Amino acid sequence: MRNTIHSLLACLFVSLATVACSSTDEATTDHEQTSAEVADTRSATEILDAMIADCDACADARAARHAETPLYQRLGGHEKIEEFVATLIDLHLRNELVKPYLEGVDLDRLSTNLVDFIGAGTGGSETYTGRSVADSHAGMGVTPEVFLAAGGDIGAAMQAVGWGADEQQEFLCIILSMKDDVL
Ligand code: HEM
Repeated sequence: MRNTIHSLLACLFVSLATVACSSTDEATTDHEQTSAEVADTRSATEILDAMIADCDACADARAARHAETPLYQRLGGHEKIEEFVATLIDLHLRNELVKPYLEGVDLDRLSTNLVDFIGAGTGGSETYTGRSVADSHAGMGVTPEVFLAAGGDIGAAMQAVGWGADEQQEFLCIILSMKDDVL
């Protein structure tokens, strides 16, 4: 069961977060060459904790890149973030683990809020008017397994819109930093 949950969806997410501190470092984002397959034997919590540790180890490098050119700009600004969010919601709706959480949700409103949330959080001029992450996910019952599955969709959406390896890693680390507010 564990293997089924973690396999393909999570693989991309894990491999992206285990890239080195910069895309110019030795590590690769090619999942076949990372330890992602080994991740099958770990629990979702263990996988997420390891990813957060990787993010912590690269915090200075990420901050330096952001100081040089804000992540927002490197992601391609508002339009590219809109494209990312549309792709992500599409993938979530086809993901058996994530889909049930979106039942009855106003997806237009969610989409607008997510674009503003990401824009404001990465250095754009957007103003986020939604609820806090903790408030909006309170009582939702998101498990580490579901979080990992949603992360797989995030990884696939980032690749689909063509964000660079550094930018994908930076974005993932931001997402991971909010894990405890979602679970
Ligand atoms: C760190 C990861 C995540 C972040 C940063 C995040 C962020 C957000 C934000 C900003 C909103 C908009 C809140 C609002 O409209 O007031 C939202 C809504 C929502 N999120 Fe997440 N989310 C994350 C993970 C997840 C996961 C893993 C799930 C479930 C699989 C999920 C399900 C939802 C749902 C269903 C809503 C709509 C809530 C509503 O309109 O009542 N989120 N999220």
